[in-house]
Amino acid sequence: MAGAAVAEADVRVVFVTGTGTEVGKTVATAAVAASALRAGLRVAVLKPGQTGVAPEEPGDVQEVARLAGPAAPAADRLTLRELARYPEPLAPDTAARRSGLPCLAAEDVAKEVAGLAERHDLVLVEGAGGLLVRYDEQGRTLADQARAVCELGLPAEVLLVASAGLGTLNTTALTAEALTARRLPLLGVVVGAWPESPGLADRCNLADLPRAAGAPLLGALPERAGRAAGFPALAAGALAPALYGHWDAAAFVTAHGAHEVRHGTG
Ligand SMILES: Nc1ncnc2c1ncn2[C@@H]1O[C@H](COP(=O)(O)OP(=O)(O)O)[C@@H](O)[C@H]1O
Ligand SMILES: [Mg+2]
Repeated sequence: MAGAAVAEADVRVVFVTGTGTEVGKTVATAAVAASALRAGLRVAVLKPGQTGVAPEEPGDVQEVARLAGPAAPAADRLTLRELARYPEPLAPDTAARRSGLPCLAAEDVAKEVAGLAERHDLVLVEGAGGLLVRYDEQGRTLADQARAVCELGLPAEVLLVASAGLGTLNTTALTAEALTARRLPLLGVVVGAWPESPGLADRCNLADLPRAAGAPLLGALPERAGRAAGFPALAAGALAPALYGHWDAAAFVTAHGAHEVRHGTG
């Protein structure tokens, strides 16, 4: 049914993935949501598969609500959704098999996104773990959910949340290659938790992460961000304009990056 779910042309759908688990995807998702809400947008945050929490426990969308959850009148511009929840802290397909609960189909995620896209300016979808973590017996992943959204005529993009230090460049390059192979655009990279006392690898990675990703650095959230008061203001100051903030990547890299010697420039 071509065009059945085509929503308003300027809606953005951003899938948030990470170089691993615990890298700050939820904090980064909350930061983008908070900045977009500050800019007056209607924002939906969807966590398709939440693992590792019991039915009554708060999951990632509740964490987003805690951090970005605005006071009225902006409260009615934020929608939170979770489609499936599995108690064990495992990949969604494994957690589903072990719990006997149904798996999540990529098409169902895409349908939910399309519905949210009709009523919001920005739809953020937070994956579980990294990009190729499986959601069902066929081995479909967050990337397949993003493809399914594209197939509905919506412009899905991917934001990669990276850890700051050693090991992040390889995972970033692998994620970028996997996205290219699947014809999914990588919007950019956000450092999930920029250390208060960065080491050499952290500082060098500010220049190397965009090289590894083939996409721009779009923010660096201070490691205290998720615990700080005034999260929306802090978030807007740590995210680039492409993510509704006013962070200046070049100025940040000049201030915090490592010195590089240029060869062959005389
Ligand atoms: N910028 C940050 N400020 C404060 N805490 C952070 C930050 N980034 C990550 N954390 C903390 O690290 C842990 C993992 O972050 P989270 O965003 O939940 O990661 P992910 O969603 O990638 O698993 C959480 O306890 C979170 O509060
Ligand atoms: Mg998370």
